[in-house]
Amino acid sequence: MHLFTATVLALVFSPCLFARKIRNTGGTIVFEEAWTIPALLGQTSNTTAAQGGTNDELKANLLDIHNQRLQQMDTNKIDFMVLSCASPCIQGIADPDAAAEMAITVNNALADAISNNTERFGAFASLAMQNATTAAAELTRAVKELGFLGVLLNDYQQSGPDGLTPLYYDQPEYDIFWQTLSDLDVPFYLHPRTDIPSILNFQYAHAPFLKGPAQQFAATLSGHVLGICVNGVFDRFPKAKLIVGHFGERVPSDLVRIDAELIRQLPLGLPMQKNVTTYWHENIFETSSGNFATDLLKFHIGQIGLDRIMYSIDYPFVNIPQGTTWVNTLPHGVLNKREFESFSRGLAIELLHLDD
Ligand SMILES: *[C@@H]1O[C@H](CO)[C@@H](O)[C@H](O)[C@H]1NC(C)=O
Ligand SMILES: *[C@@H]1O[C@H](CO)[C@@H](O)[C@H](O)[C@H]1NC(C)=O
Ligand SMILES: *[C@@H]1O[C@H](CO)[C@@H](O)[C@H](O)[C@H]1NC(C)=O
Ligand SMILES: *[C@@H]1O[C@H](CO)[C@@H](O)[C@H](O)[C@H]1NC(C)=O
Repeated sequence: MHLFTATVLALVFSPCLFARKIRNTGGTIVFEEAWTIPALLGQTSNTTAAQGGTNDELKANLLDIHNQRLQQMDTNKIDFMVLSCASPCIQGIADPDAAAEMAITVNNALADAISNNTERFGAFASLAMQNATTAAAELTRAVKELGFLGVLLNDYQQSGPDGLTPLYYDQPEYDIFWQTLSDLDVPFYLHPRTDIPSILNFQYAHAPFLKGPAQQFAATLSGHVLGICVNGVFDRFPKAKLIVGHFGERVPSDLVRIDAELIRQLPLGLPMQKNVTTYWHENIFETSSGNFATDLLKFHIGQIGLDRIMYSIDYPFVNIPQGTTWVNTLPHGVLNKREFESFSRGLAIELLHLDD
């Protein structure tokens, strides 16, 4: 191939040179926002509705894109929303073939559903993680062919004949996934899931109210995030970008103790080369999804810096006006104009390669 042709092709197909044109009214960008297809609605049927909403409304809101969702985006000044498949989605499908097939179905359905309004909607890919090679190939297809902006997985992948074997992405067999993520230069949003029944029974039978977002989501997901850190994933893939919602599933609130205790285990052959605090400065980002706590925002700015923190809501499990009311308080004494722009849209534009 002629060198010039090769260069032009490389430029054309390099994803980071494609900046997606989005609406710019100076509004917000949000990207931990759930959607699903009718075939997967049963997975979320017992989930608590957003405050004040019924379970039927929750289901209708999960299926909707262009009606009440878009209307609320307009009235709440949200310029752009990235959609992803509601938890557990593919991570709740243990059979590898069924999971891989459903991932393709979900990704195609989402691409199709938003194709007539890409100024307002983007997408994160769903992936079956039983086979990292297959997952990497589907991620590549979703980004290069469907124009997706990254990937969102709902914590560990269930696998095995009874669905009781959890797969964590901090193991060496996932290197091909992390390599592909780095090559495509797209972020990986790690989102919570409800634990499998054996774990729920063991840990929460004494206080079942703690299942879900009050405690279990953060407890389970923070272990996965820290596993990725301590097992050296970011040392092998220094360009990998991970996003964690709900203000980081509590990890940035506890970095001092986490690192102090991990350093004591260095003699035992701890694989990570840096400390967890450093990964939160170099590889990990967080969003405010479902956790509109101003004091926490201020504390986390000190711990990891505002250049790692972005706005998001967690619709429809959290009501959009609740997020709007909170985010609108921040320019009044919490964040200056430049900081607010970064938090509410600027950093997301950079991370997702958007163009306003
Ligand atoms: C929802 O609850 C019903 C009744 O308790 C149960 O039969 C069903 O398996 C639950 N569905 C999910 C997805 O957990
Ligand atoms: C996109 O298609 C959906 C479904 O047909 C429709 O409801 C919506 O109004 C369309 N949006 C635009 C911007 O054309
Ligand atoms: C994953 O899928 C690839 C491609 O189909 C196959 O060659 C490989 O053996 C599979 N790996 C595992 C661990 O099943
Ligand atoms: C983490 O590592 C950085 C860089 O070496 C160092 O400056 C910092 O003090 C460490 N933090 C903790 C909590 O150990």
